[in-house]
Amino acid sequence: MTFTLPELPYAYDALGPYMSKETLEFHHDKHHKAYVDTGNKLLEGTDLAGKSVEEIVKASYNTNQALFNNAGQHYNHLHFWNWMKPNGGGQPPAALAQKIDEDLGGYEKFKADFIQAGVGQFGSGWAWLAVKDGKLAILKTPNGENPLVHGSTPILGVDVWEHSYYIDYRNRRPDYLKAFIENLVNWEYVEKLYGEAKA
Ligand SMILES: [Fe+2]
Repeated sequence: MTFTLPELPYAYDALGPYMSKETLEFHHDKHHKAYVDTGNKLLEGTDLAGKSVEEIVKASYNTNQALFNNAGQHYNHLHFWNWMKPNGGGQPPAALAQKIDEDLGGYEKFKADFIQAGVGQFGSGWAWLAVKDGKLAILKTPNGENPLVHGSTPILGVDVWEHSYYIDYRNRRPDYLKAFIENLVNWEYVEKLYGEAKA
């Protein structure tokens, strides 16, 4: 199978009280698994079977919408689990903090703009911190789309589909986004992707 569902990199109850065991069980075991299973079915018999997730996402964009939806969501969720950790959040590591100062007007402005991108994404989608032409940018995308298909490399993303927050926050998406940035972000993983993106 081309797509495989990874284990969560922490226990299901490790992100409480900001993201519950119940949310992670549904989100990982049901939603992400469905993207993997459906994506694999749609890949059967195509010339994209066996390619990398990134290649499949880019190749299916605007050519095979059903495959793109599932491949995009698989890619997004592979990273999403790693974009969080227990006792996360706080200030970004020094090199990244400096880049945020230069390109995005400082951490506080970044935080406000990132939350606003998530709040402002109408319906399901994602808010992103991405590297484009050597600069950091904040983006938002609908459904399973991501910055890869817009010529940039995502280094942080937050899922604003209701399945990511409705159990814990009901309709309070801004509260979920604030908790994500202040208490969940795994900045070491963001820094690693930043290093790879600029290499
Ligand atoms: Fe999701």
